[in-house]
This record gives sequence, structure tokens and C-alpha cells, in this order.
Amino acid sequence: METEMICLGLFHLRRQDMEKDWWKGKVAYQIYPKSFKDSNGDGVGDLKGITKKLDYLQNLGIDILWLSPIYKSPFIDQGYDISDYYAIDPIFGTMEDMEELIAEGKKRGISIIMDLVVNHCSSHHEWFQKALSDPDGPYADYFYFIESDKEPNNWESYFGGSVWEPVPGTNKYYLHSYHKDQPDLNWQNPVLREEIYKMINWWLDKGIAGFRIDAIINIKKDLEWRSLPSDRENGLVPVLESLVNAQSIEPFLQELNERTFAKYNAFTVGEVFNETDEELHFFIGKDGVFSSIFDFKQTCLGQEGKGWFDHTLPTAEELKESIFQAHERADRIGVLSTIIENHDEPRGVSHYIAEGPVNDTSKKALGTIQVLRKGIPFIYQGQEIGMENQVFESVEDFDDIATINGYHVAKEAGLSEEEALAAIANYSRDNARTPMQWSAEPGLGFSDGPAWLISPKPDYSINVEDQEKDPDSILNYYRQLTALYRHPLYGNTIRFGDMIPAYRDRENIIAFERRGDKRILVISNFQNRQATLELPAPIKTLVLNNTAGLFQEGDQVLELVPYQSIVLELVE
Ligand code: GLC
Repeated sequence: METEMICLGLFHLRRQDMEKDWWKGKVAYQIYPKSFKDSNGDGVGDLKGITKKLDYLQNLGIDILWLSPIYKSPFIDQGYDISDYYAIDPIFGTMEDMEELIAEGKKRGISIIMDLVVNHCSSHHEWFQKALSDPDGPYADYFYFIESDKEPNNWESYFGGSVWEPVPGTNKYYLHSYHKDQPDLNWQNPVLREEIYKMINWWLDKGIAGFRIDAIINIKKDLEWRSLPSDRENGLVPVLESLVNAQSIEPFLQELNERTFAKYNAFTVGEVFNETDEELHFFIGKDGVFSSIFDFKQTCLGQEGKGWFDHTLPTAEELKESIFQAHERADRIGVLSTIIENHDEPRGVSHYIAEGPVNDTSKKALGTIQVLRKGIPFIYQGQEIGMENQVFESVEDFDDIATINGYHVAKEAGLSEEEALAAIANYSRDNARTPMQWSAEPGLGFSDGPAWLISPKPDYSINVEDQEKDPDSILNYYRQLTALYRHPLYGNTIRFGDMIPAYRDRENIIAFERRGDKRILVISNFQNRQATLELPAPIKTLVLNNTAGLFQEGDQVLELVPYQSIVLELVE
């Protein structure tokens, strides 16, 4: 990253801060702080632990680091319920630790972005406490307090049950799109909006580079609170469906951007689902309110059912088409951020390697597709060593409220205990939330104390220490992938080049060209079978190969082994 200082009279600005779109062509990494690295032996990850691992992240080629929430929180939804936006939760350390992390990150060219959770706060936040103690006072207006003698409508929260909870001692209900301890904030209220802008700018002044923006589409509401037709026995309808009747989100986000992010040239990536084409322009177009949004299309594959128990795993063809369609739609508008997993998803290697086996080769193939497709790749902690879904033996092994709710939904739908457990084991968010596996020691090199959320049977063979020693490890392969972003010949094309599908009709071949000042062909035989492929021209350079040997320069017909991925430059 450019750190040259530019002298502008009284102001000394880093060149990076001045360059618009400085974040384009970068590689990002997501940390789930509770589970990344514990530095003080209390069994929970912390900020000092993250700082200790910055060299590791630099070696992995990371430019942008997203921290899931580290603010003060009662952790009902693992920090996505914030009780003080200006404080670091003591389990993670102190504000000095955060300042140290930001400063040490900068030294290594790593920009820190935080999670911005402003659709809701925690019921423990002083705003909500003040609202409860004076339900007709000004703080009640920070939330949606609706007068009614019963739940105002039939909307169901994302975590199950009604979105409405009585305000004690009143004839009012308050809205919570998520858990009842996560009351929704009222964006209609300009005083609340000012509080939010002030807080965002306070963090940007501290030197963070931007935000991942949580659950943001939910800030629009149907202010008539209309019930929706339900085909379910409990009469409820997911709150997400009410958003089609909601007021426009545009004025809020435009104001948010102008008052905060734009002034700081911050990087922002929105958690946005189901956006229309028009909204895509609004979010990430030329004058878009965010720098980028995540491509969640592939995570939604197989989810048409009634809950996790009813989901199916995506095939290679579905994965391929979802990726191509996402780019065909978005690339001419703006920049997508890409994932195979995050803290809300099962592990990508357990989810997307349709035919199996899930081994080093197939894991590297999945990584190749994600890291080299166009966009900003977000590598989720542990992805770079190929961490898989965990073994959970009973519902007591889980922590996540959404998982436990999913278990009850499955049982209510008539599944046996074992079937319900199998469904949540496949999809639980806890699969990705267990501690990072640094070594094969009992605490996984994560903690010297009683590590939190460790599954009953971690796969100790998957760990950083062993993979550091093995030149062919998944970790070292990810380093090669990210190194392509800085490659003297190919870097420009990988960072900024177009993405054009190739061999689209060939079943289970996921291939694309990256085209810039070079033409690079990325081919993955994403199946458990051999495939023969003829190239349009002979190989000029074999840039990367996820299995040993097999091809050389001059070859034009390829026999690809199962899950082989190659990156090629062809003779012009
Ligand atoms: C987002 C977060 C998720 C959280 C929810 C409520 O979807 O990624 O972890 O539970 O918002 O804040």
C-alpha cells in the first residue's frame, strides 16, 4: 500500500487517503474476533491476539481486514447486539489495544474495517434503557414503539417468533427484526441519525479505513405495519417479505454516505440481499452509496425450502451459473465482494464441493475460483487452511441462536431428533465460528485456556503450523493465489481485468478468462472425474496449478484430473 506522505500546507495526508477507490484490486480477510487468537488465556479471542497475527496476515497477502463486532455487547447475538458503540468489549481488550491494532496494521499496509451494526442495537444500550423508563419520552422515538393491544402484525423475526415484544407497563410494542434483545433503530428520527453519523465519524477519525455494513436493507420499513398473507400454521410471515412494502431506503443511505463515508474516502461493503437492478446502481454504481456489496447469490442456492431442514446443496453447475450471472449483472455497474463462507454460513469446502472428495485439491480449486474471479475476495479465517464443517453431537454443543431456532423449526416440522441435528449440523453458523486452528495442540494453538465453542471432535490435522512446513499446503497455495494480485506481469489483469466465461457449456468445468493487459485463463475441473479440454492456443506460461506437474508449455490438449485447477497464459 502506498504510504508516501504528501504535504498540503498544514495537513499531512497519506496518498492512500487521497486516492479515490484505493480499495479496488485489494484482498480482504474476515476475522471473527472471539475465535481468532486468544492472547490472555481466558478462552476467547481478543485484539492483542489479532495484532500478534498481523505478520501472518501480511504473509497471506491481506490488504483489508474486516473485524466482526468488537464493541461492548451482552453477546446475545455474538456482538451484533451493541450496548455501547464507543467502547471495546472487555473480553476483546481495551481501546488502546484497538489503537495499537490500527497502527500496527498500517505499518504492514493492512487497513482495518469494522462492522457497522445500525439497523438495531442491544436492549442493554442506554438509548433503549431510557426509552423503557420513559416510553413517551424522546428516546422511545429512537425505536419503533407502536401503540396496540396485541402484536401490530404477523411479521416473523429472522431468528423466529414475532418481531413484536410488549413494552412493559404500556399498551405499546417495540419492533425487533432479529432477537428481542436487538430492538430496531428508528431511522425516521433525524436525532437518531445524527447520533449514528457522529459515531461513525468518531471511528473513522481513529484511523479505521471503513465498514462492513450489517443488515442494512432492514432500515426501511413498511410504516403502515401491514400484515401479510401467510400459508403457515403459526400465521407468521418472514419480516424480509415486508420490505417490498417499505418506504425508500435511498434518502437515508445517501445522507449516511455524504455525512460520513464520502468525507473520509472510506471503503464500505454492504450486506445486501435480493437487490433489484436499479438498487444495484444505487448501491455500487458510479455515484453509489457503498464501495461494494457482497455477492450472496451462491449462498442462497438450494434455499427455496422452509428452513435449513429443507435445503439442498448446490451442484457445480449451479455454482458456476450463479457466479457468471452475478458478474454479468454487476461488473458493468460496480465491484462485487466475493466469499465462499463467512460467520453466517457453513464452511465453503463442506458446502460447495458437490461431488467430493473434500481434499486438498478440491479445496484449492474452490479457492482458485473465488480468489481469481473478479471482485474483492474476502477470505474468512480458517478458509486458507481448508477448515471444514465441525462435528456437533447434540444441540447443547451449539451456541448460535439462529441454529437453536433452526433446530426447533425442524422438529416442529416433524423431523426426528437425529434428522433435526443433521440439518443444523450442515448449515449452522457455528461451523465457521469455532476457534481458528493454529496448531494440533489441545487448545488448537488458539488459547492456553478453556477455548470457547470448540467442537467435540476438531480435526486437528487441519492447522496452520503443519501447513507452514508443507510447500504444497492449502495455506501456501492461498499465498500463491493472493501473490497473483501483486504479480509484476499478471497483477494488473487480476486486479482490474474483465472476467469472461469460458467453456460455459462444458458440464462441471468452471472456467473464465481474466482480460486486461494480459489474457489469463483460469480453469477448474470441478468434479470427481477426469476431463479432456482443448485450448484455443498452446500454453505459453503455466502460472499456477493445484496439483503437481502434468502440463508444460506448448501443450494444447489438457487431461485434467478431478478438481484440478490451472491458471494459464496462452500463446497469442
Ligand atoms: C447480520 C450478521 C449476523 C447477525 C445479523 C443481525 O446478518 O452477519 O451475524 O446475526 O446481521 O445483526
